[in-house]
Amino acid sequence: MEAIRKATAGGLEGVMVAETRLSDVDGERGKLVVAGHDVERLAGEATFEEAAALLWATDAASARAGIAAGRARAFERLGHLGDALDREGGMDALRASVAHLEEAPGPGASAAVTGAVATFAAAWARTRRGERPIAPDPTLGHAADYLRMVTGQTPDAARAAGLDAYLVTVADHGMNASTFAARVVASTGSDLISAVVAAIGALKGPLHGGAPGPVLDMLDAIGAPDRAAAWIEGELVAGRRLMGMGHRIYRVRDPRAAVLERATQQLQRAGISTGRLELARAVERAAEGALRQKHPDRPLRANVEFYTAVLLDTLGLDRREFSPTFAVGRVAGWTAHVEEQRATGRLIRPASTYVGPVPAEG
Ligand code: COA
Repeated sequence: MEAIRKATAGGLEGVMVAETRLSDVDGERGKLVVAGHDVERLAGEATFEEAAALLWATDAASARAGIAAGRARAFERLGHLGDALDREGGMDALRASVAHLEEAPGPGASAAVTGAVATFAAAWARTRRGERPIAPDPTLGHAADYLRMVTGQTPDAARAAGLDAYLVTVADHGMNASTFAARVVASTGSDLISAVVAAIGALKGPLHGGAPGPVLDMLDAIGAPDRAAAWIEGELVAGRRLMGMGHRIYRVRDPRAAVLERATQQLQRAGISTGRLELARAVERAAEGALRQKHPDRPLRANVEFYTAVLLDTLGLDRREFSPTFAVGRVAGWTAHVEEQRATGRLIRPASTYVGPVPAEG
């Protein structure tokens, strides 16, 4: 009972809520396994569709065709979304637009909503950029087509590979908050779209998927490596958290940070750079040092969001588009978890400790 109480107060850390074959996060060793593959290898070798196929236990060709069809169907629906895309925030637009969908019948439902999330995220991005949404191209891979639908230009192989690496890296990550939200909804017997909408809501928050935009703001505010230490000190003295640092599970550097740092470096080698990678590395070192001093017993290292900001910025995405792009990748994991949760047939329903007033006697 005491253990349950502590877990409730502390955010459920260490509480097992599911058995999953989808991914394994080892916070002590800094390892992430996605559907039986180390994330470092998977992100370098698989396209997003191939990774999604692993999560959905289907073949890559079906996943690719299903996701492309999902992109196309969602584009046809753009005219029927009312003001859903007319939102300042991309996650609000995504939540509102995905809510217009209905779960596609049959085994292609996961691919359909995965395709739709990319089309809606891109259409919102186009609108915010003052441009008209661009129709998807079913002949392109998902990463390349998403970049094209946002930026208006078909990306070269290096950029497409960079975004593929990102989408694969974030496709699934154990029982994170948005995945848990999706599983809770699915456990009630509700539909896939409701589960994805709930997950989008959870991903929006800065403690989960909302951090990469603020990471870029931080890099901009610091401006030069030699200003990093003083700026960071100021933030910590003011009691603010450093975005992109720290993690609930990892006690070492988030392995995804290394994958995304490497992907950014590869773009740099291909001649695509914003010059922010060196600054980011200096800021990471300074932040790590300052956090080590402030919390000597609690390792706080770079998490996935830190280099997400640098990579997506290098790919030409605007910082407002970072969180929606996270959803473009993570929806593959959400939908796989919904399937897995449904197979258990078990309602997720934890307990709470009542600390309110007791009724008067008599
Ligand atoms: N910057 C400064 N201090 C931080 C910090 C950060 N990024 N992350 C944690 N801390 C501090 C906490 O304030 C806390 O201090 P206290 O004991 O004096 O109150 C201490 O470190 C322990 O943190 P804890 O509460 O165990 O962390 P958590 O597991 O609840 O939080 C995160 C994990 C990710 C929510 C947290 O590290 C964070 O807010 N990071 C910044 C946002 C971010 O990058 N989110 C993306 C996550 S992938």
